[in-house]
Amino acid sequence: MTAANPLGKQGAAALPALMTTYGRQGIAFTRGEGCYLYDSNGKRYLDAVAGIAVNSLGHSHPGFFAAIRDQVGTLVHTSNIYEVPLQSQLAAELCLRSGMQQAFFCNSGTESIEASIKLARKRAWQQGISDGVILVTEGAFHGRTLGALAATHSAKYQEGFGPLPAGFLRVPYNDVPAMAAAIKSHNNIIGILVEPAQGEGGVHLPAPDYLPQLRALCDQHDLLLILDEVQTGNGRTGRYFACQHSGVVPDILATAKGLGNGYPIGVCLAAGKAAGVFQPGHHGSTFGGSPLACRAGLAVYAALDKEDLVGNAARIGRYLQDGLRTALLDCNKVREIRGLGLLIGVELDRPCKELVERARDQGLLINVTADNVIRLVPPLTLNQSEADFIISVVSKLVQEL
Ligand SMILES: Cc1ncc(COP(=O)(O)O)c(C=O)c1O
Repeated sequence: MTAANPLGKQGAAALPALMTTYGRQGIAFTRGEGCYLYDSNGKRYLDAVAGIAVNSLGHSHPGFFAAIRDQVGTLVHTSNIYEVPLQSQLAAELCLRSGMQQAFFCNSGTESIEASIKLARKRAWQQGISDGVILVTEGAFHGRTLGALAATHSAKYQEGFGPLPAGFLRVPYNDVPAMAAAIKSHNNIIGILVEPAQGEGGVHLPAPDYLPQLRALCDQHDLLLILDEVQTGNGRTGRYFACQHSGVVPDILATAKGLGNGYPIGVCLAAGKAAGVFQPGHHGSTFGGSPLACRAGLAVYAALDKEDLVGNAARIGRYLQDGLRTALLDCNKVREIRGLGLLIGVELDRPCKELVERARDQGLLINVTADNVIRLVPPLTLNQSEADFIISVVSKLVQEL
């Protein structure tokens, strides 16, 4: 059969069936168990990527699997035009742990940011501000949909997608005076959107008083503090949410990734000034907060608590960081080893993308971000001997680089 070829000369056969949006590594995995993935030859890899900070419970977690299987056989999807009791249950669990008051469920990190932006804008609009501006930071990554992309700081991601939505003003990360100056020089700032620790941007941690000072600025000027905890949330940093390291409760908290352990779910949580803003029809999602997605989220939180995985992330994260620091003590290629819980970055003085393949050859999956930062985000179930393996492979490869 000859297929119609709308592309003319180029020829449909020349094009791969998948759009080439990803620079993929030439490997596929056939199954996973705990912190390990296996390829079709049965080779085992310790997974220090975890779907980029997603598989918080590791692979094939028994409790998670049982919950999902049970839910698939009971009820997968209804609609947000009906009550969804599992949504209310997960909202209550998340609010209990985060100190927030309300939840809106969606399907990804970028959607949780879109919901956050819309929520901030709707509140401003209700106050008579229709040209509100949100302060965002250098090095930020908030997602790929247009609003989140406009808030993201990278020509690489933004190029060719203009015009991007207006309404964002960028200042340096970890710079409170810059935030204060921006607020002072504009009369339409409505909120501040930041990551409590930048993951994609190279695992950067702000000063301990950064978030408390942003909280104070927001309180002083009646702005919304919006935290992007898409990557840092759900136990990753050794607290349920990274803002809890500094005792800050934001007005809006967006999270996703680890919340579903691989089942797509995101959430925008609101408290205080941001609670009660959305009314019926203001925002929505066909799939957001389906019974299956919420059952996945509930199973994640049940396992986090039952197995003390948030505490484990704190303890084993410290062990991993300390071990890397000791093993690489004399290595002058290492600029800094930093992190919080199981979000760890090893910054080198040179680009190091080739380490991804070399580590894979040694049976370890790692990720390199910002060109020269090895990012380690293994499952929160990581144990000491698995951490030792990461330390030995990473330190050997860095030394040999
Ligand atoms: C901090 C942060 N925000 C937003 C996103 C976007 O999430 P998603 O890819 O689920 O849309 C990411 C993804 O890496 C992220 O790290």
